[in-house]
Parts: sequence; C-alpha cells; structure tokens
Amino acid sequence: MDRALELEGLCRRFGGLEAVGDVTLTVPRGARQAIIGPNGAGKTTLFNLITGELAPSSGRIRLFGRDVTSLPAHRRAAMGLARTFQITNLFRSLTVEENVLLAVQALRPSRYVMTRPVRAYADVQERVRALLERAGLWAKRAMPVRVLSYGEQRQIEVLLALAGEPRLLLLDEPAAGLSPGERREMARFIKGLDAGLTILLIEHDMDVAFEVVETIAVLHLGCLVAEGSKEAVRASPAVQEIYLGTEASRGSC
Ligand SMILES: Nc1ncnc2c1ncn2[C@@H]1O[C@H](COP(=O)(O)OP(=O)(O)O)[C@@H](O)[C@H]1O
Ligand SMILES: [Mg+2]
Repeated sequence: MDRALELEGLCRRFGGLEAVGDVTLTVPRGARQAIIGPNGAGKTTLFNLITGELAPSSGRIRLFGRDVTSLPAHRRAAMGLARTFQITNLFRSLTVEENVLLAVQALRPSRYVMTRPVRAYADVQERVRALLERAGLWAKRAMPVRVLSYGEQRQIEVLLALAGEPRLLLLDEPAAGLSPGERREMARFIKGLDAGLTILLIEHDMDVAFEVVETIAVLHLGCLVAEGSKEAVRASPAVQEIYLGTEASRGSC
C-alpha cells in the first residue's frame, strides 16, 4: 500500500501528563481521514508531532515512506506537508489577495530575487487567482480580510496551506466557531479539494467529519479508541460513551 503517513507507537508526555499515548495509525495516499475526539484528547498535540513542531517522547513518524521522526518542521514541509491552525492566523488589515500572495511568494525560490522576471511574477499571480477561485473568493480579493465572514476567513487559511501545493494537508478544526451554514460551506469546500491530496482532518464536531471523510479515528485521552468506516465508528460503544459524556477515566492505551 502506498502510504502518506505512518505513526508508530507515538507518545508525547508533558510532565506527568500523557497527551498522546501510543498512537499507531496509517493514512494511505489520497485518503481523507478524520481524527475526532473531545477537547483535550490530544488531537492538536498529535498534529504538532506530525509536523515537527513538537518532538515525540517515543515512537516513529514516516512521511511518504521516509522516517522523519528527527527531521525539523521545515524539512517535512518541503516534503509536501502543510497544516492549518485551530486559531485564525491571517493578516487582518491586508486584503484577501495580499494574504494569499504572501503565502505563494514565500514558497517560491524567486523570493530572494530582487529583479524578478515578469514571467515569474505572472506565474505567482496566476497561482493566487487559481487559489482564490477555488474558494469562490476572487470577487472579494480587494477586501481587507477583517471584513469577511469568519467562515470565509477560515477558508482563506486553508488556501494559505494549499499555497505550497502540499501532498498531505492537516486541518485542525477548520469548522470551529462557524455557524451551521458556514460549516456546511466549509465541508463543501474541503470535499471539493484536489482528489490527489491526502487530508487528515481534526474535528471536534462529528457531523462535519462525517460529511468530509471516509474513515475516522477516535482519540480519547491520548489513545485511539476506535478506527474505521463512518458506520463502524458511529456504532462503536466506546465512541457513543465518549460522545454521550458517559464517565471515562484516564488509563493507559
Ligand atoms: N505545551 C503543552 N504543555 C503542557 N500540556 C499541554 C501542552 N499542549 C497540550 N497540553 C495538554 O495535552 C492535552 C491534549 O491537548 P491538545 O492536544 O491540545 O488536545 P485537543 O486538540 O484534542 O483538544 C491537554 O490536557 C492539554 O492541556
Ligand atoms: Mg486542539
């Protein structure tokens, strides 16, 4: 099987707290997989381990078949890994287009060239336009980001992550804080992304996850408690217990 991501016995402790405990997970190339779980389950910590922002206490991470456990974040990014954050991270007083332009330019080798050929600049412009059209935001390109709806701002963040043409995209709760209508729009937008792109989506909200992906892994107190098709996960007694708020205690995985 061709794999985008493999996590093997991944563990991260913060002092006495095991935020991520012994997570083993495989994401095939081209898959769309969600990691769901309540607040504090360890979802964002898991992303920070995958991107290299945090070092694991133990375990291995392979990206497109290569062990990246000791590679710094920028090397993993150069291999085609991109992410969004749980909290909005845009330049609010710059326009929609300027935000995307900065992201595209930052990733081009031409960024160090002061006297850049016109054609290279046209190439950047074209990429910006393609990204904005993908989110239906081309018409709003001259508006400052702060006047856009929160749902649109979150979509721009996904565009920024796409600027480097990643092969594996990690989305951390892209629908957090959105209205029901904006959530549906975000789900539609993510579903419409390039079919060749592997997507790992963190969601607190099960409905959004179910809308966007085929397979789901459920994280609870740092441990994977269920994994499989949407139907299997929905029917899992462990998942029902977690989402119905039944008592659960922190134990080992
Ligand atoms: N840098 C950190 N230092 C100490 N504890 C942390 C740190 N980051 C996360 N945690 C703790 O790890 C647990 C998992 O957090 P997090 O990964 O943010 O969960 P989630 O994204 O699923 O809500 C929480 O108990 C959180 O308080
Ligand atoms: Mg989180």
